[in-house]
Amino acid sequence: MTIRSVVKGVGHYLPDRVVANADLETLVDTTDEWIKSRSGIERRHYVAEGQTTADLGTLAAQAALTDAGLQASDIDAIIVATSTADFTFPSAATMIQGALGMTRGFAFDVQAVCAGFVFALTNANALIVTGQAKRVLVIGAETFSRLMDWSDRGTCVLFGDGAGALVLEAQDGTGTTADRGILATDLNSDGRYRDLLYVDGGTSTGKTGYLRMEGKEVFRHAVEKLAETAHTALAKAELTSADVDWIVPHQANIRIIEATAKRMQLPMERVVVTVQDHGNTSAASIPLALSVGKARGQIKPGDLLVTEAIGGGLAWGAVVLRW
Ligand code: UT7
Repeated sequence: MTIRSVVKGVGHYLPDRVVANADLETLVDTTDEWIKSRSGIERRHYVAEGQTTADLGTLAAQAALTDAGLQASDIDAIIVATSTADFTFPSAATMIQGALGMTRGFAFDVQAVCAGFVFALTNANALIVTGQAKRVLVIGAETFSRLMDWSDRGTCVLFGDGAGALVLEAQDGTGTTADRGILATDLNSDGRYRDLLYVDGGTSTGKTGYLRMEGKEVFRHAVEKLAETAHTALAKAELTSADVDWIVPHQANIRIIEATAKRMQLPMERVVVTVQDHGNTSAASIPLALSVGKARGQIKPGDLLVTEAIGGGLAWGAVVLRW
């Protein structure tokens, strides 16, 4: 018998404030046309003043619990993927644990920037298959609007805020690829590329800092590495691209999403795309896309999904799961 980490519920939360590309034309020297054609982004959501990453994560978690028909007291562990925790510590995960009224179990953050949700899912799966937790809430929650340098048009138009969450539950599987749940994972990082995408602040500077990115270079790595990690994860599960129903990619740039699908020899009809509405929400983008993809009727029980993401570090990876 094989223990599998099966998706029991999914949910998301997006802050109310929607900012269209045209709204940004008044802020920096940009155009709706440039943003749309270079990135595929049309609008993004921004948090309200006083609204925190933990607030967003809590609302997404509550939606996922409702979808699963479970309560916070049914959960053994919370893992939050975020690079925008509201405080150096405590973790966003413990803040969300408190807000949910969950008084047992454990909670911690995972920081792998835009690849964070893939890293968090892999950690959750490890806890489940080794019997350390039966039900794990895996959350991606970000407020990247707070890391923007509003004078840098090369970055400030690309990012948005939001949160998504999954409830994973231990279920018995047969050990075959017909099982529901996580079938394989693949994680990578290479710190030689730390200067391509980083925040120029933190405890060493006494300031939060701003996001800095060599967009073209990150783009080049993304196109190469995302298809590769997806293929590696599929090979670990003894599957190929031909078995995939949905690619659920990190939503950074439609051109990266298209190039990755092409390298995987899959048509865009098999890709869940939300980048036009959310922008790049870093670690929140995959759970947001899973939740929206399900709500749209795209993702159905039994579908084979591959998620893939890359971000600062560089860190990148993929997860193969049957919904
Ligand atoms: O989630 C983590 C991973 N992050 C990513 O995957 C992001 C990867 N990178 C990208 O998505 C793309 O590289 C960008 C969307 C950031 C940029 O697209 P690009 O096609 O690589 O454009 P570029 O950086 O080469 O810029 C082309 C031109 C430049 O002008 P010149 O030097 O050619 O005259 C920029 O100054 O576009 C200019 N530009 C802008 N123009 C209008 C840069 N930002 C803007 C802007 N509006 N917002």
